[in-house]
Amino acid sequence: MSTVIDWDVLHAQAKHIMTMAYAPYSHYPVGVAALVDDGRIVAGCNVENASYGMTLCAECGMVSDLISSGGGKLIAVVCVDSAGAFLSPCGRCRQLIFEHGGPHCLLMTPAGALPMSDILPWAFGPDHLS
Ligand code: THU
Repeated sequence: MSTVIDWDVLHAQAKHIMTMAYAPYSHYPVGVAALVDDGRIVAGCNVENASYGMTLCAECGMVSDLISSGGGKLIAVVCVDSAGAFLSPCGRCRQLIFEHGGPHCLLMTPAGALPMSDILPWAFGPDHLS
């Protein structure tokens, strides 16, 4: 069974949760929404900290939402900045998305949807430990 990806819905959800971000230090709110293989949508926003290095990226919140709401595999991900423009996830968050989405999970970019195998080439992942 293939899951239809409604990119407009994911984009809207990412923009909505971006408005909930706690970013008093960088003033750079981020939102992310992702489609799970069972049709659920999970989402997260960045949560900063006075101890800057403790900051949780939006993708951390999204993965926490994924796991705490039942798990599953990420199919498609949209990350946005304050303008709603597609955001390039940081390296650590590419690893987070890869862990739960694998190489075929799609990330929306200004150049269209690209697989994680393009976003994080030659990735280290769960298969290395099995
Ligand atoms: N940020 C994210 O939430 N995700 C990313 O992939 C890139 C960066 C956040 C962290 C910090 O709160 C702000 O953006 C500026 O770096």
